[in-house]
Amino acid sequence: MSKILVTGGTGYIGSHTVVELQNKGHEVIIVDNLSNSQIDVLDNIFSISGVKPEFEQFDLFDREKTLDFFRRHNEIDAIIHFAAYKAVGESVENPLMYYHNNIFSLVNILTGMIENKIDTIVFSSSCTVYGQPDELPVDENAPIKKAMSPYGNTKQISEEIITDTLHSSKLKAILLRYFNPIGAHESAKIGELPLGIPNNLVPFITQTVIGIREQLKVFGDDYKTPDGTPIRDYIHVVDLAKAHVIAVDRMLEHKNKKNLEIFNLGTGNGYSVLEVINSFEKVTGEKLNYKIVDRRPGDVTEVWADTKFANDELGWKAEKGIDEMNLSAWKWELALDAKKKTK
Ligand code: NAD
Ligand code: WQD
Repeated sequence: MSKILVTGGTGYIGSHTVVELQNKGHEVIIVDNLSNSQIDVLDNIFSISGVKPEFEQFDLFDREKTLDFFRRHNEIDAIIHFAAYKAVGESVENPLMYYHNNIFSLVNILTGMIENKIDTIVFSSSCTVYGQPDELPVDENAPIKKAMSPYGNTKQISEEIITDTLHSSKLKAILLRYFNPIGAHESAKIGELPLGIPNNLVPFITQTVIGIREQLKVFGDDYKTPDGTPIRDYIHVVDLAKAHVIAVDRMLEHKNKKNLEIFNLGTGNGYSVLEVINSFEKVTGEKLNYKIVDRRPGDVTEVWADTKFANDELGWKAEKGIDEMNLSAWKWELALDAKKKTK
């Protein structure tokens, strides 16, 4: 058993990863400033796993607080770093807020790790680093394309910061490039909690069907894809979470082959927007109100993962299909709605 710091652990992917770490017997300490999550996630984690993780609330972009945290917690064995802002549009409106939060937090964490001789980190990266790949499926050796947004750029810069830091230290890192995480825990006790109007497809679908939004806008049906709508590799958040446990254990058990390893986390299957909608309607029996509108600037036409390296090296494979992803997302929305009505 190891003690793992999960930054952003009350957030969407972080909370699911905390549960999977606990399931494997790891002890977890979460740091989160609750800028995009809620404190009652801790109780919800407890109600799934039976263990309430340790928790501290502060801003990781605050250097003094972060270094003080590390000095008080020299028992930490490894870090999974999720904490970041992630809204693409907001990053275009307010780039400095994104550079400040995402970059300073990472630099502070790496500094704390070196000072306190913690040598293992898993970092949340994104398939956004590939832009529109020249070849599909896209593997980990594909060229990094110029970022389409300041958010995407923070992921590219973060990958570079980690790579440079490894060259001059004893650190080891695994960078996980997620494709499109969707869905929720089967208990419907944790899931995605978008503040305000969702940017992402599936939360917008579930909020429309439940009646929070009037209509989903499908951004363009004139792409060069079979049905004209863009194709993505959607992956169930629990499959994604399990890969983090494998990645951190791989380094803690000294099974990593290099001090820097990079893995795509996707299913290897691409679905168009209309295919996602069809699957959602089929598994839930609900009808979605949607209309086709103009393209959203910055969207790539199609991207899906070559998962061979992750499958072979991590011994990990995404197990859940698009129907299961959609159904779990819908059950989560229903659970949120039921909770709202009892308040
Ligand atoms: P999320 O917003 O649900 O979780 C991030 C958590 O970090 C939140 O709880 C937030 O309060 C916290 N946080 C943010 N800045 C912080 C700071 N300075 N100090 C302390 N806590 C802070 O997001 P998520 O979807 O769970 O994403 C987790 C990570 O995965 C992020 O790095 C994101 O960029 C990356 N990622 C997400 C997706 C996706 O589609 N969800 C895809 C690729 C990569
Ligand atoms: C999926 C598809 C939209 C909303 C983003 C980030 C990426 C990563 C994941 C973090 C696209 C269409 C969407 C809507 C729509 N995050 N859509 N109507 O754009 O692939 O990726 O989230 O790293 O960096 O860019 O995901 O869910 O926003 O969109 O038609 O209201 O759904 O055009 O084709 P995307 P998404």
